[in-house]
Amino acid sequence: MSEKVEEIDERRKQIQEQEQRLRARMSKIRHKVAVISGKGGVGKSTVTVNLAIAFAMHGHANKVGILDADIHGPSVPKMLGLTGQRLQAGPPGIFPVLGSLGIKVVSMDFLLPDENAPVIWRGPLKMTALRQFLSDIVWGELDILLIDLPPGTGDEPLSVAQLLPEMDGVIIVTIPSEVSQIVVKKAVTFARRLGMPIIGIIENMSGFVCPNCGTKVDIFQSGGGKKIADDLAIPFLGSIPIDQKICEDADKGIPFIVAHADSPASKAFMEIVQKIEQFLENKNQKSQHSQPILLKKKEAVK
Ligand SMILES: Nc1ncnc2c1ncn2[C@@H]1O[C@H](COP(=O)(O)OP(=O)(O)O)[C@@H](O)[C@H]1O
Ligand SMILES: [Mg+2]
Repeated sequence: MSEKVEEIDERRKQIQEQEQRLRARMSKIRHKVAVISGKGGVGKSTVTVNLAIAFAMHGHANKVGILDADIHGPSVPKMLGLTGQRLQAGPPGIFPVLGSLGIKVVSMDFLLPDENAPVIWRGPLKMTALRQFLSDIVWGELDILLIDLPPGTGDEPLSVAQLLPEMDGVIIVTIPSEVSQIVVKKAVTFARRLGMPIIGIIENMSGFVCPNCGTKVDIFQSGGGKKIADDLAIPFLGSIPIDQKICEDADKGIPFIVAHADSPASKAFMEIVQKIEQFLENKNQKSQHSQPILLKKKEAVK
């Protein structure tokens, strides 16, 4: 009996130590933003990767990180041409893989050699394993870390998000055909359960850009994201059109907004990044009245 109590105490101590280590590891990251979606396949990873690149192009080169926390469908490495890379471990801990524009990437994909291997990530102990893993990562100094959470608003994305300390907020990615009060409300509930502010909604696959003439055609009814954001009093961050090149570049591992900087989708990503920066700046100012410059002081992070 007492042995059991000792075991539990030991376990609790271990978790506390891991949490402390995780906090310390992430303390040099000025802003941490989670990207969520109501379901898979809406472009959550595409948006995460392109926002990361847009941030890097917008004055934060070498200061952007991506945590691909989608345990069962990690796709960030492929989109950044990093498939097959492995995380390097040294005495200080595990180092992220470096991608375009110095983006630091950590993904389950770097750990999983094949479909059969990742038993630890599938079993009941996966959150313990994930906490341990995350507490070993040496991010260094970053201006922003974007976290690609598992799809949906169920237990898994919630458990993963709960592991991460001091998040600044969440971005909700949706598509016109799934835009419904129910999906967005679920995301709002999700953010509330985590105690995180909602930075805003991005409507992806909103209209289609003709590859021949560049004209944008609204295939699905677009604009629903904006309406729902207004109805729920959540900021609307912008719409990303369907662009064949987004898909092609993702498959080839080429950063889309570098390769097609003048496309409407790239411009939309850049505009969205400015809105996110604005949110983070306002948050800084609220949490510390004397903090005028965005992403400059670690102490400004809540
Ligand atoms: N705006 C877009 N235009 C064209 N293809 C897109 C767009 N957004 C996403 N895709 C494609 O849709 C597929 C699913 O996107 P992905 O980011 O993997 O979704 P999720 O992470 O939500 O499951 C990918 O093949 C991706 O290249
Ligand atoms: Mg994904």
